[in-house]
Amino acid sequence: MLTFSSSSSPLVPTLVLLFSLPLLFLLAPRILPPRPVPISLPDELDDLSLFRRASADSPPHRPLPSAKSRLGSTNPKPKIAFLFLTNSDLHFASLWEQFFSNGSKSIGRYNIYIHADPTVKINPPGGVFTDRFIPAKRTRRSSATLIAAARRLLATALLDDPRNAFFALLSQHCIPLHSFDFVYNTLFHRSIAELAQFGSLQYRSFIEILSTESILWNRYNARGKNVMLPEVPFEQFRVGSQFFILTRRHAVAVVRDRRRLWRKFKLPCVSVNSCYPEEHYFPTLLSMEDSEGCTHYTLTRVNWTDSIDGHPHTYRPPELSPDLIYKLRQSNFTHPYLFARKFSPDCLTPLLNISDSVIFRD
Ligand SMILES: *[C@@H]1O[C@H](CO)[C@@H](O)[C@H](O)[C@H]1NC(C)=O
Ligand SMILES: *[C@@H]1O[C@H](CO)[C@@H](O)[C@H](O)[C@H]1NC(C)=O
Ligand SMILES: *[C@@H]1O[C@H](CO)[C@@H](O)[C@H](O)[C@H]1NC(C)=O
Ligand SMILES: *[C@@H]1O[C@H](CO)[C@@H](O)[C@H](O)[C@H]1NC(C)=O
Repeated sequence: MLTFSSSSSPLVPTLVLLFSLPLLFLLAPRILPPRPVPISLPDELDDLSLFRRASADSPPHRPLPSAKSRLGSTNPKPKIAFLFLTNSDLHFASLWEQFFSNGSKSIGRYNIYIHADPTVKINPPGGVFTDRFIPAKRTRRSSATLIAAARRLLATALLDDPRNAFFALLSQHCIPLHSFDFVYNTLFHRSIAELAQFGSLQYRSFIEILSTESILWNRYNARGKNVMLPEVPFEQFRVGSQFFILTRRHAVAVVRDRRRLWRKFKLPCVSVNSCYPEEHYFPTLLSMEDSEGCTHYTLTRVNWTDSIDGHPHTYRPPELSPDLIYKLRQSNFTHPYLFARKFSPDCLTPLLNISDSVIFRD
């Protein structure tokens, strides 16, 4: 268009400009990187009313029912809420089916909730996943929609069952590395050392919280310079894996944040390359609210070696072996890893082959 600037009549460039504008709009999405999308007002209002109900119904310190009910029967055990956040089929549904079915502890000790992007056609998984879909909204990378979806899962699970005590966020690319019994014992067991250190009977959330990453400054300014102030000073900005296991108390804290941090984190990014809001919102919020109540590490193993475009290493069938599972379990922290990602969908068959002999054998 600039080439017309030497033309004698000003009308010609104006007309050309006018007619080329629609073309520009048509082509722009193909040329430019994806534009971050703000969350629409109706979606935001929907969520606010859900989150309000979830935090009103759930006082953060509501104690779990005591060991014996009035009738003298033994008390129902606390549950783990498994929250699946997906925008495709649940590729490993049949592996998870075994995970939930094969264990003496699993009966009555878990709930499943699925948030599936409604713009994607998904083959409904049967078995334990039947009717576990929650009202969902569109999710996109590089936008706060992934935070919103995780919060919707937490709120729905809080409202659904007061016995949900831990909330584990997973994706369709996650697999279990241990049996259900092992996972349950790991989460609900507290070591003597832990009790001595924290003194209370409160459980801690397993969420990665890091502050020393070199990427932090760009991530902090992804929505524009200083826009996070004053609610989030740079010194309090954190990063961590978006796959975490929260206690009920922290799940309530997350859905209760309707203005303070969310108001900043939901702003669309100006820099798409540094835009991973879901890796910052949860670690920052919980480190500000209750740093001591978090382990600062995650129980979901992920391999960032040679990551491409923000995606971690994706395991494929030739890499799968019992040894890989044993290796992925190993951790430098107090607990071994319980879950791992990412696995390509065609890993299902080799995974099922070693499920009984390796994965669910602890
Ligand atoms: C992590 O991924 C790299 C390839 O990107 C691979 O060479 C390495 O073996 C993987 N590590 C583990 C523990 O699987
Ligand atoms: C444990 O720490 C060592 C030394 O920092 C590191 O090389 C190794 O990769 C870590 N292992 C895991 C599973 O993170
Ligand atoms: C199944 O697993 C065993 C080891 O547990 C292995 O020897 C065998 O090759 C595997 N079969 C397939 C089809 O992956
Ligand atoms: C449960 O696991 C055990 C041992 O790993 C295995 O022998 C059994 O077949 C499994 N049962 C089911 C129903 O998957």
